[in-house]
Amino acid sequence: MSKASPKAAGPPDTLPTSPEALPAPPAGSDPREITRRLSKLRDQIRHHEYQYYVLDAPEISDADFDVLMRELKRIEADWPDLITADSPTQRVGGKPLNGFDKVAHSRPMLSLDNVNSEEELREWDRRVRELAGAQEISYVCEYKLDGLSMALHYGAGSSAGAAGADKSAHLLRALTRGDGTIGEDVTSNVRTIRSVPLSISAKKLAAAKLPIDFEVRGEVVMPAAAFLRWNEEREAAGMAPAANPRNAAAGTIRTLEPNIVAQRRLDFYAYFALKANGDTLFSDQGTALDALTAAGFRVNPHRESIHDFERLLQFIASAEERRATLGYEIDGVVIKVGSTALQQRMGYTGRAPRWAVAYKFSARSAVTRVEDIRIQVGRTGKLTPVAVLSPVAIGGITVARATLHNADEIARLGLEIGDFVTVERGGDVIPKVVEVLARKADDDHPRRAFQFPTHCPVCGSEIVRAEGEADHRCVNIDCPARLRESLLHFAARNVMNIEGLGEAVVTQLFERGMVKSLADVYALDEPALLSLERIGAKTAQALLAQVARSKSAPLNRVLFGLGIRFIGERTAQLLAEEFGSIDALMTASQAELEQVNEVGPRVSQAIREFFDERKNVKLIERLRQTGLTLTAERRKKSSQLEGLTLVLTGTLPTLSREDAKARIEAAGGRVATSVSKKTNYVVAGEDAGSKLDKAHSLDVKVIDEAALLSMLAVSSSAS
Ligand code: IVH
Repeated sequence: MSKASPKAAGPPDTLPTSPEALPAPPAGSDPREITRRLSKLRDQIRHHEYQYYVLDAPEISDADFDVLMRELKRIEADWPDLITADSPTQRVGGKPLNGFDKVAHSRPMLSLDNVNSEEELREWDRRVRELAGAQEISYVCEYKLDGLSMALHYGAGSSAGAAGADKSAHLLRALTRGDGTIGEDVTSNVRTIRSVPLSISAKKLAAAKLPIDFEVRGEVVMPAAAFLRWNEEREAAGMAPAANPRNAAAGTIRTLEPNIVAQRRLDFYAYFALKANGDTLFSDQGTALDALTAAGFRVNPHRESIHDFERLLQFIASAEERRATLGYEIDGVVIKVGSTALQQRMGYTGRAPRWAVAYKFSARSAVTRVEDIRIQVGRTGKLTPVAVLSPVAIGGITVARATLHNADEIARLGLEIGDFVTVERGGDVIPKVVEVLARKADDDHPRRAFQFPTHCPVCGSEIVRAEGEADHRCVNIDCPARLRESLLHFAARNVMNIEGLGEAVVTQLFERGMVKSLADVYALDEPALLSLERIGAKTAQALLAQVARSKSAPLNRVLFGLGIRFIGERTAQLLAEEFGSIDALMTASQAELEQVNEVGPRVSQAIREFFDERKNVKLIERLRQTGLTLTAERRKKSSQLEGLTLVLTGTLPTLSREDAKARIEAAGGRVATSVSKKTNYVVAGEDAGSKLDKAHSLDVKVIDEAALLSMLAVSSSAS
């Protein structure tokens, strides 16, 4: 980031440019006033981010928040030199990463010893009390979050504003656990986690009694809602769902595109505060957690200081009870000796502290028999084998079915009907069969191999398995099972959101032949609905109101709802923004479709195939007649540099000339070859020559590559 030189930071009216070519000037033009406005806006935005992302208690609407954010982005675009690394606009950097640096931890990130039963916990408690001698023990109990541990380093940093007036602590570095001694620097990715403060004001530091240099350790998790959403998208895109939120979070943190990380909605919970050199900061773990809370970190509210053993057991029991409804995964309870002096006295065994232990919940798996294997037909025609189980309780829920994914998986498991299997249930994921147990000699339960059907069990059509694909599909696009699933998808909350159009109603509608196409839903009337079981006048009217309301769902939802292969929520959004209408999309060539970010040959082919099908064209026509929204506002082309003329000179540190030019033009700017009074900015790199001198003599604003990238980032990350 370039420092704001007096000239570069000068008011816009000193720029030799036509006023109409510039974006609306910021309030006032006195640089000091602008600095004040920027800092006020940033503080306000930080406060609202904290309310929303840490406390889950927003004070203003999303729209009002956007107004603040837009103003900040606008001013920063006019004053790129005043952009700071901890500005709320700077969470997502523009560039993909090349890899992660390896960095040593201030002190090793250890793991914990586990106990699995009350007896083992009692034994641990006894040892702790023995080591403590006469000293009274107080434990701090916390939930054991199931994510990946992370160390965040804060300090004054290099961006300590003008004349070191900035006494706030800045996020300098985020390290994964790695092998415990050396972690990976994933700062750019962690910056996108909105509950991670990019900076902490001097006031908050004082309130928390934190020095300016310190380290926070905690857990990065993917909340259940984010995990579900992501898995739905993966599935819509024809990818296997991630096994659990922990893998999803770990995989996300290691992607090289901070942009993608930002979309995954990860969260961070703090549970340790250390000095920069790795020493403990507070005299007690409870105090440390309170301090982290005061500093603005998200700290799990489910924590308690406990003296006696019975209360420990109660804490564990209540955690296990709450587990299913927390909205994030926990796999146990961590019990820590509160006093840090005592912790130090107790010390460590090889890899784990003696002063803490993890009480792990029992595994969420069980053994049961596979009674049958049935085939389910999904909305894309995919045939999924499902094991029908002898019902068994896993983590308080009765499980009677488990997915077997596909024919290859059955072969891999070596599964036959009648076998005993281990079934696992992780998070909100559908239970799955993980292994087949060896057959006991005296088990004479009948057993038979499963034959994958050659024809669709619902409509009798042929089944195909495409080259290189693991899945079998029913080829009949009118297969009632596909239609039923398609309608359920169409009506789902994140699609057309037709409340009341669930399994029970949809099944009846199909069984009675009342619905044969998605469009038929819009022809339903009250008498028709009243003929269904368990539907009274009130329910029928409510459902019809929902159906009517869904007509105004935006185009991206309609597109997602059509169930085109590989078109998930996000791709649908991109397509709607890019093409602006279903008509434009329907007539687009594969090459045109592939102009859209994230659309490759596989996706473009699926879209073409869908719209080349006469039946689907008819469906769209019928949907149009019922009054569905089939147009959308096209995304304005990135326009942050609209109307601006830039001149490039010298060698830029990372961008080639062509790259820089392409990016500027993509953002609506123009690249000129010589500097004149009409030039708005000169982007100067190493060994800049006469153009730079000319810029100075004409008083044209000079910026460096970092400032250019910031301006571009502001435009491309516009919400
Ligand atoms: S304390 C030396 N507290 O569990 C102390 N860990 O098996 C180690 N974890 O690597 C960490 N929630 O990733 C601690 N409230 C919590 C935790 C927690 C989850 C994870 C952490 C650690 C693993 C240890």
